[in-house]
Amino acid sequence: MEFIATAKIGLESTVAFQLHKLGILDTETLDARVKFSGGYTEMTKALLWLRTAERLLMTVAVFHADSFEALFEQTKAIDWKRYLTPKTRIHVNGKSAKSTLFSVSDCQSIVKKAIVESLKASYRVQTVPETEEEVIIEVGILRDEVTIALDCCGAGLSRRGYRTYNVAAPLSETLGAGLILLSRFFPDTPLIDPMCGSGTIPIEAAMIANNIAPSQNRSFAAEQWRFIDRNLFATAREEALDLQRHEKLEILGSDIDPHCIDLCKKHAKKAGVMVNWNVRPVSELATEWSHGVLICNPPYGERLSDKQEVKKLYRQMRTVFDRLPDWQINIITASREFESIYGKPANRRRKLSNGGMPCTLYQFNPQKSETND
Ligand SMILES: C[S@@+](CC[C@H](N)C(=O)[O-])C[C@H]1O[C@@H](n2cnc3c(N)ncnc32)[C@H](O)[C@@H]1O
Repeated sequence: MEFIATAKIGLESTVAFQLHKLGILDTETLDARVKFSGGYTEMTKALLWLRTAERLLMTVAVFHADSFEALFEQTKAIDWKRYLTPKTRIHVNGKSAKSTLFSVSDCQSIVKKAIVESLKASYRVQTVPETEEEVIIEVGILRDEVTIALDCCGAGLSRRGYRTYNVAAPLSETLGAGLILLSRFFPDTPLIDPMCGSGTIPIEAAMIANNIAPSQNRSFAAEQWRFIDRNLFATAREEALDLQRHEKLEILGSDIDPHCIDLCKKHAKKAGVMVNWNVRPVSELATEWSHGVLICNPPYGERLSDKQEVKKLYRQMRTVFDRLPDWQINIITASREFESIYGKPANRRRKLSNGGMPCTLYQFNPQKSETND
């Protein structure tokens, strides 16, 4: 079977890397998605362990369609009896790009109608009451190529379940994990986020360092599928529990706002990780750890009124971070003037997006290091 792990632009390579670590080697990396082949065991592992994928889809059919009739007939021809009963609630999501069939809502209703007709014919029934568990079907059309898939996740994979309170402008958990996987972080590397907000980066880092499966404590749409062995999930969760480590970690999150640090403590407890937390302005950042990885997501200053404040903050960050010559510094921002304000060119820039906003991760290597990416 073929699966599609969708990802934010810039994080595809991290998804492929994690799949390889799970022993899933047959992968193809494309823009905003990674395809892989495997069975339900691989699907279950991917759902449980992928830290930076947004969703996981199971491909049911791929075909060419540039008319509603072709979309209807080819969807109807799929063997839906394999996946659905006449009582399954059917929810169809859709998207279309660069295609003749551009009206997504029309495509969604045609696909649903075709599935209903197919089920009526194969089960020899007059109606499909849709009273039982829901299956979410994704129809994606790109350059007239239609992919029909089942959504394995339900809620997006960023919903780990530990972040129950919100602060202004939090990172998604998937992007937080992505920043860590794009940095030079290893389980025993000290890590600091000096503007940690709701704690996403330190908590994700602690979960990575202790090998905690990111989706250990949540459920998935695929668990309701009648056609797969539901024990697969229980087994995969048990295996994941056995793989957890319980090391003492050198991970610190700090923020100027005491309310944020209160929430961080609650979130870390829910995630089952131990992190050091501090209320402190970045100007007072100090550490005994000689080297490590610093990752931060400062305010971007999108509002005109904030721009001067943010300029001042970015200059202050430079002064403070220069006191950490053996640390890799990673800063994500949407500010296009960042490097000129910070006053130093990055060793590496990675294009990402945060909540749909184009951003760059600026990476500065340790100043004493000879390496240059
Ligand atoms: C964009 S938010 C970070 C969100 C965080 N990454 C998350 O996922 O929740 C920026 C954070 O920087 C903090 N902040 C702003 N100025 C600061 C300063 N001078 N020192 C420390 N923290 C600061 C804010 O309180 C806010 O929590």
